[in-house]
Amino acid sequence: MKMKIGIIGSGRVGVASAFAIAASKVAEEILLIDVNKDLAEGESEDIAQGIGITKTQVIAGDYPGLVDKGLIIITAGLRRKPEESRLDLIKNNMHLLEEIIGNIGRYNKDCLIFVVTNPVDVLTYSALKLSGFPPNKVFGLGTYLDTIRLRSFLIRGGLKSEAQVLGEHGDSMVFLGDVPEEIRERTRRAGAEAIKKKGGAGWAVGLAVADVTKAIANNEKSVFPLTSLISDWHGLSGICISVPVEVAGSGIISYPETNLREEERERFLHSYNVIKETILCL
Ligand code: 2OP
Repeated sequence: MKMKIGIIGSGRVGVASAFAIAASKVAEEILLIDVNKDLAEGESEDIAQGIGITKTQVIAGDYPGLVDKGLIIITAGLRRKPEESRLDLIKNNMHLLEEIIGNIGRYNKDCLIFVVTNPVDVLTYSALKLSGFPPNKVFGLGTYLDTIRLRSFLIRGGLKSEAQVLGEHGDSMVFLGDVPEEIRERTRRAGAEAIKKKGGAGWAVGLAVADVTKAIANNEKSVFPLTSLISDWHGLSGICISVPVEVAGSGIISYPETNLREEERERFLHSYNVIKETILCL
């Protein structure tokens, strides 16, 4: 099944996601929305010129165009200014999110909302509360990005790549499986390293977004570590945090049982508390 997709934000992450989704040929149409209309037009036209290969319409437009989209991906966000605290950034991105969710709700009450903007756990929680959508229809990229990064380091090091990352998409992320400390550290630092060397990650984020999108479009029932509202997950509830979820065309369809070692459970509890404290500050 080919689906229609809206992407809010035509920056590095929005465009990498649009490109990767188009290249995976699972979308009938991708609509790019950005406050900078020239940017959205330029980027959509650039990808659209590949339609003979991708079979995907890529256009720029505005919120009313979200009316027939099955999946809406939120990538728009501000960057931290030098004088700003992390909490200031969260508050500014929250205001932006309120506007975006208000517009989604105006034109479409039946889509899936996929949050990529950071801090992704907090903003996914806010998107859920602001939209009033059912919890299985609102989720965020979370630690799937960290998981693909981790696996890339393992694969390129000639190691087995089944390990995964859960918890906060941030410093308190939790590694499952036997992962050498050096690779854990490299995974934790990957986002900051991309900011230092090229202004921020894009391509790997786009690939991860497209992978999840493909599972939704094809109703695949695949399992990814994504951030969503948990309810009695190892006894913990009430915030958005990454755990393995099974995804299909209707959104999250189940939370597969996941065994945690004692040490992993303790780290997950710490990560849960880190996110919860931030949510309480808002
Ligand atoms: C990343 O991990 C900053 O979340 C962004 O690349």
